[in-house]
Amino acid sequence: MDFIRAAAAVILLAVLGQAAVVSEDGLPIKWGKAPSELSQLPTADGVIQVNPWDYLQRMALYKLLINSTDPYMSSMGPGDKENPLWSLPLQLGWKLRSGRLTDPSPGSSSSCGLESSEPVCISTQSWYACMNYYMSVLPFLAAVQTGVVKKGEFQLQIQVPSEVSQDYCANFTDCSTKHPDAMTKWEKFFQSLQQISDSEDTDFSKKDKILGLLWAAEEASLQTASTACSERQKLYSYPEVRFAQGWLNSAAFVAAARFHANVERSEKLMAPLPSRVLQESDKPPNIDDLSAEENHALHIFSWMNSINTLLGGSLVNLWRSAMCSPQAREKGQGLLHDLILDPKFPGSSLMAILTEMSTSC
Ligand SMILES: *[C@@H]1O[C@H](CO)[C@@H](O)[C@H](O)[C@H]1NC(C)=O
Ligand SMILES: *[C@@H]1O[C@H](CO)[C@@H](O)[C@H](O)[C@H]1NC(C)=O
Repeated sequence: MDFIRAAAAVILLAVLGQAAVVSEDGLPIKWGKAPSELSQLPTADGVIQVNPWDYLQRMALYKLLINSTDPYMSSMGPGDKENPLWSLPLQLGWKLRSGRLTDPSPGSSSSCGLESSEPVCISTQSWYACMNYYMSVLPFLAAVQTGVVKKGEFQLQIQVPSEVSQDYCANFTDCSTKHPDAMTKWEKFFQSLQQISDSEDTDFSKKDKILGLLWAAEEASLQTASTACSERQKLYSYPEVRFAQGWLNSAAFVAAARFHANVERSEKLMAPLPSRVLQESDKPPNIDDLSAEENHALHIFSWMNSINTLLGGSLVNLWRSAMCSPQAREKGQGLLHDLILDPKFPGSSLMAILTEMSTSC
């Protein structure tokens, strides 16, 4: 039972708080400045040359992804902020705003990755930018390949600076060869969208299926990225690495519930993330210049790391086993939502619900 209480506490504390600024006017940072059409991206000899180390171009990939999947997302609810892909550009915006797209190498004096750089660039050395590559370029290539993003007569190439070309795949074939699991799952997601949305299913069932395929792709991307980006993670302080691992681990909880990360819920989930990169001298959860909510989230992430290690991963497994059917997952999401809106939501009733859920599977 302690496991369930622990799982509930993790989710509760990960979603509460209102510290970090992750959006501008309810949209991702600098969203309005990013190109919204393929034809606005740089081209050479009729080939579109996307530079994903230009912040606005990386954002443009998300604009195109959201724009072209919106027609299949009506089961997510009315309005233009329900597409679950919104969580990805919102996260990229938080990374920029919190200084996580800069070069973490000790002594680096580069201004790349600062919001004030012009054009706003992304450091090829940033671990966060590396992780995000797998959550932006990979899905984009799969979306183009499956025809969800219409490429028309254009060919597409991703610009990878030669000094890091070993580390990043550059086109669909290359990425599929190097990261077959993630690319297959992204393809499956995009290929299935039209069929699911055209089917006779209820919206409830469509939404569950779409979110299931999306989270499967996101988890596969995070998995392959964790390995591919691990050298870059070594450039950060111990407290920052601990936080980052906790944040990554928490994805398993929201993924198992097939969390519908629309704009509003993504903002709430990200609000307590630390608003700057942590230094070696920082002692979470007692960092003076961070808010109480940010310190609290750091405490929970660190605690979660320890408990997951101690329990050999059974914390996540318990939550996963409770999220066993569309109905259970809806309840799980409802629980997450109540927890977001009601800080006094009683842990005891949550436990009762989770217990019932895992036994009724
Ligand atoms: C996608 O973008 C095009 C061009 O910018 C626009 O005309 C269209 O309405 C957008 N579609 C959706 C579903 O947002
Ligand atoms: C894809 O990228 C790889 C690695 O950069 C390159 O060798 C290959 O020629 C590219 N293929 C196409 C079709 O551009």
